[in-house]
Amino acid sequence: MSEGHVLIVDDDPALLQALPEALQMRMTGLTVDTAQSGAVALDRITARDYDAIVTDIKIPGMDGLELLAEIRTHRPDTPTLMITGYGEHDLVVQALRAGAYDFIRKPIDRDYFVGSLRRAIEKRGLSRRVKGQQLAVERHLNELEAIVEERTRELRETNQVTESPLRFLIGANGQMEKIVEQIKQVADSPLTVLVEGETGTGKELVARAIHQLSARREKPFVAVDCGAIPDTLIESELFGHEKGAFTGAHQRKEGQFQLAGGGTLFLDEIVNLPLPTQAKLLRALQERQVQPLGSKRPVQVLARIIAASNVPLEREARAGRFRQDVYYRLNEFAITLPPLRERDNILHLASEFLPEAGMELGRPCRKISEAAAQVLLRYHWPGNVRELRNVIRRAVLLAADVIEPAHLSVIPVDSPATAALREAPAPGDCSLKEIADAAAAQAEQDAIRRVLQLTSGNKSEAARLLRTDYKTLYLKLKQYRIDAALFRESRAS
Ligand SMILES: Nc1ncnc2c1ncn2[C@@H]1O[C@H](COP(=O)(O)OP(=O)(O)OP(=O)(O)O)[C@@H](O)[C@H]1O
Ligand SMILES: [Mg+2]
Repeated sequence: MSEGHVLIVDDDPALLQALPEALQMRMTGLTVDTAQSGAVALDRITARDYDAIVTDIKIPGMDGLELLAEIRTHRPDTPTLMITGYGEHDLVVQALRAGAYDFIRKPIDRDYFVGSLRRAIEKRGLSRRVKGQQLAVERHLNELEAIVEERTRELRETNQVTESPLRFLIGANGQMEKIVEQIKQVADSPLTVLVEGETGTGKELVARAIHQLSARREKPFVAVDCGAIPDTLIESELFGHEKGAFTGAHQRKEGQFQLAGGGTLFLDEIVNLPLPTQAKLLRALQERQVQPLGSKRPVQVLARIIAASNVPLEREARAGRFRQDVYYRLNEFAITLPPLRERDNILHLASEFLPEAGMELGRPCRKISEAAAQVLLRYHWPGNVRELRNVIRRAVLLAADVIEPAHLSVIPVDSPATAALREAPAPGDCSLKEIADAAAAQAEQDAIRRVLQLTSGNKSEAARLLRTDYKTLYLKLKQYRIDAALFRESRAS
């Protein structure tokens, strides 16, 4: 029993009369519409989605092939059967190529015709059901997608507020947990924060985390490297200047204090601030006002100040190299980052850097061998987390799948005398003289590494800072097997 609604197109009125009757006798429930021309057929097709269409290949006004093309365009899922006469072989081939479902030869073999039409209607039903399911699946997928999107957005928002700024301290245990607590505690307060720690311990990371966790997170975070700006320019850089305030001041310029607005101003390497500038900083901290050079009117300071130093500022203050009063003002809340060698999460950090480096360099590296882990734990890391990250990057580049000690050759191997600097020497292992020499060598290496960090691997600049000549530095680098190139992108990271 077939149900369905079909359209028959033919210019022969006798056929249009006879065919529907013949079909309906054999297919109960079949509804048949007819059209005598292409134009009428098109109207019908536009108005209704037939289960199948039967058309003579030659009809007046528009030939059957043209009609077929229209059907394929507007009703691509409706099977179309073509009625053909003798000698129309070429047309048949064209029609089949153009997507006709079947062709029926005249004189019509009714059994064949009915069979073919039945199959066509069934096919249409099937494709409708598949389409319906496809639509349902698509709708379902869209719903899922919307849910996933919504969840991702929620996660991203909560992460931004609570976790992502602290990502670098994930799994932090012991001392680092305390630091995380301090960051959370101080973030939303107006207190000025002093972050201290050796180079590469993460001072800037902490400053950014405080900003991100504060209500100021949408406002600017402005970092000023007080060590990188010449003394003569630092004040105009920080406080701004009026047009004509000094020779070369062609235009009025906002200072970093103003640019930070209601955000956070990060004063990095604060110890490098010249003493006269420190006096002006004191006013900014105490009275929340700064005076642009050449201006009579003070400007209100809205920004929260975070300062960083890689030397203990209290020591500098006691030695008279830094103003005591400024030190106290900056020190409203102090966070001291321990050097990496004193942390208990070296391997945790290393394992965090591993996939990161793998991704970046396109070289996935699975793990760090037990022996390599021992090398990482024994080293004293003068360049701290930054150095660890670079060492892991380099090892990932060299290793295939597992990092072995051979991939960590940038880390110097301790001689018994060097080891004796940190632990009590085994009896008879080394003399006092050897230990003293090792200490000197160690101090030299550490200084060279620290300065290379500062100069991003620039050897001439490093030599200048160490007040030695290029050749001496070059020889020392060879002697200690230090690769200056390793420090190249370290500051940018
Ligand atoms: N706990 C940490 N987890 C992940 N990465 C860290 C961590 N601490 C530092 N880093 C990374 O080490 C590098 C140095 O960090 P950062 O610039 O914050 O150090 P710094 O103390 O400001 O150093 P410097 O005194 O040389 O300016 C950066 O690439 C930073 O992402
Ligand atoms: Mg820094």
